[in-house]
Amino acid sequence: MDFNLTEEQLLIKQAAKDFAQNELLPGVIERDELQKFPKNEVQKMGELGFLGMMVDPKYGGSGLDTLSYVLVMEELSKIDASASVIVSVNNSLVCWGLETYGNEEQKEKYLTKLASGQIIGAFCLSEPEAGSDATSQKTTAIDQGDHYLLNGTKNWITNGGTADVYLVIAQTDKEKKHRGINVLILEKGTDGFEIGPKENKLGIRGSDTHSLLFNDVIVPKKNRIGEDGFGFKFAMKTLAGGRIGIAAQALGIAAGAYELALKYSKQRKAFGTEISNHQAIAFKLADMHTQIEAARYLVYKAACDKDKGHDYDLSGAMAKLYASKVAMETTVEAVQVHGGNGFVKEYHVERLMRDAKITQIYEGTSEIQKIVISRSILK
Ligand code: CAA
Repeated sequence: MDFNLTEEQLLIKQAAKDFAQNELLPGVIERDELQKFPKNEVQKMGELGFLGMMVDPKYGGSGLDTLSYVLVMEELSKIDASASVIVSVNNSLVCWGLETYGNEEQKEKYLTKLASGQIIGAFCLSEPEAGSDATSQKTTAIDQGDHYLLNGTKNWITNGGTADVYLVIAQTDKEKKHRGINVLILEKGTDGFEIGPKENKLGIRGSDTHSLLFNDVIVPKKNRIGEDGFGFKFAMKTLAGGRIGIAAQALGIAAGAYELALKYSKQRKAFGTEISNHQAIAFKLADMHTQIEAARYLVYKAACDKDKGHDYDLSGAMAKLYASKVAMETTVEAVQVHGGNGFVKEYHVERLMRDAKITQIYEGTSEIQKIVISRSILK
């Protein structure tokens, strides 16, 4: 493993850091409080090439590797995890899936706009009764010859209200179980497609999460990605890469909280000295630093596996499992280091603590990651 970043990777990391400091930080508390989607900021991230980072430039992307994407995710997440999940879903779950499995017509029509950030996408797998148990899809896409008739409900969909393009996973042939599932490209505004109310969330409050309702929605057959019955494999392959993005998000949240705690501990005085001089605080910082560094190696390793064409199901799952645990533990400790101030919004750590929790839930809960890991090591 060689994590000596190239000059290009270092420049990209710095660009993301500067963007996060200058553009995301100023409004982050207000957006969190009001559940306000970072519309202008997303547009700027599109202009910087952050929304289609790994996509071939011929489809409007930046043509970069997964490690560069992870570096950007980490830097954005230190400041604003709501903005970074929008980046993650668009890159990993929408653009990657379309570029890897879509046909030329689909790429021309949708990928170019998604990768350049002109529009954003959503990935629609979860349902009221199919979260972790993703094969139990109740949404149906019934084959009607030249089109599918889509009916059902999706839940907790990131970019649910703001997306223009939705990749919807649905059951076509119940008898075939997961092999009878398809993935369809659905455009906003299609008749019968309704966006449900916005969820009022604990964390990542700037990103918009909605349920979606489909009532006899007609989706042309040419909007199916891959062969008939490929939808579940599509979801699994796409999520395997998505988990690397969320692992990087968790890493960034942890690192952001740690940096704030470190700085605060050198300024705040108690018992006649800076609190960093008290072993109770210094040891917390030592633990945080060590765990974050370990998480970083796992996240970068998973990204490198993907870039080298190695299998990344296992390394991605391990990276997400561990980095999300570190994000949760580090942010709780960062609030503790800040004492009373940690409980106050202006100090940012309470938001990072709330944001950290979702990294243990979406794109496969920690328990699901343990299923993926244990199956992989036991097979
Ligand atoms: N790559 C390719 N195929 C895979 C795969 C992978 N990584 N993992 C599973 N599959 C295939 C299997 O090979 C099998 O197909 P075949 O029978 O044809 O071989 C099929 O998928 C079913 O696999 P399993 O029998 O293992 O299925 P299972 O029901 O036991 O469990 C699971 C699979 C891993 C638990 C899966 O259901 C899962 O990952 N669940 C979590 C779902 C999830 O991550 N949801 C997140 C929602 S999206 C989100 O959060 C986005 C957002 O907004 C941020």
